[in-house]
Amino acid sequence: MPNNKKVILVGDGAVGSAYAFSLVNQGIGNELGIIDVDKRRTEGDALDLKHALPFLSPMKVYSADYSDCGDADVICITAGTAQKPGETRLDLVSRNLRILKSILGEIMKTDFNGIFLIAANPVDILSYATMKWTGFPPERVIGSGTSLDTARLRQTVAELIDVEAGSVHGYVLGEHGDSEFIAWSNIRIGNLPIESWTGPLDAEKKEAVLAKVRDAAYYIIERKGATAYGVASALARITRVILNNENAVLPLSVYMDGSNYGLNDVYVGTPAVLGANGVVKIAEVPLNEEEQKAMENSAGVLREILDDSFI
Ligand code: 2OP
Repeated sequence: MPNNKKVILVGDGAVGSAYAFSLVNQGIGNELGIIDVDKRRTEGDALDLKHALPFLSPMKVYSADYSDCGDADVICITAGTAQKPGETRLDLVSRNLRILKSILGEIMKTDFNGIFLIAANPVDILSYATMKWTGFPPERVIGSGTSLDTARLRQTVAELIDVEAGSVHGYVLGEHGDSEFIAWSNIRIGNLPIESWTGPLDAEKKEAVLAKVRDAAYYIIERKGATAYGVASALARITRVILNNENAVLPLSVYMDGSNYGLNDVYVGTPAVLGANGVVKIAEVPLNEEEQKAMENSAGVLREILDDSFI
């Protein structure tokens, strides 16, 4: 079908099903196939989602198999074990690499030639592994990276100064995980520097905001077992940008090839221009000395995990 925009979701858990609902609800794409080891669950979810369609734009939604992947525009992978209370994202690495490898093995039996959107954790590591194992060019493998953390930052700052979150511009960079950091020197609200709204921000105030953003997932997981709506909304936005070739600037986990931040051969969270063919360009954030150190530290944490993993 010409102009058919097709998404395949692999992993129909808390994040995957919330993502599927976001796509259907926002009318993103015309076709959504859902794959999971639990086939019956995808059959139930697809039918449940179809019952939302009379209220929304038409879309083809179905329980899919790997053989449906060949002509997809985007394959979003959320499959993997999730953090239990007290676990870090990095604790998941060996289990989720194993799961990822078997999924990619199935997808690579098809002619899939679209964009891999990785969301399972640790997302920066799994994105790197996807690029290596599939041989895809780095611009066609992206991870959700710090998109969710950046949303958490924008919402936290918005509440602090009582403006809407869409007026807050700034980024969380680095690992989607415990070593991430806020690029404070670049936060602007309505195009004015943050301190013109808040007054001087000392280290203690900054740490309090970072803690709220960085530790948000722990807070939510302790209370409801998993996070879903925030990440699903970030993934839906990323998907829309790809399908509509929007060339939007979004924080993502992307491959560093030595040209940005002095980082090489690692996936890490940074804003990038994203379009139908994947990453068009990395939008390097100018960092002060302290922030540059934080970026190197975060990339170093990820590099160490990569060195210890069989990728
Ligand atoms: C999140 O940050 C757990 O990575 C997931 O919500």
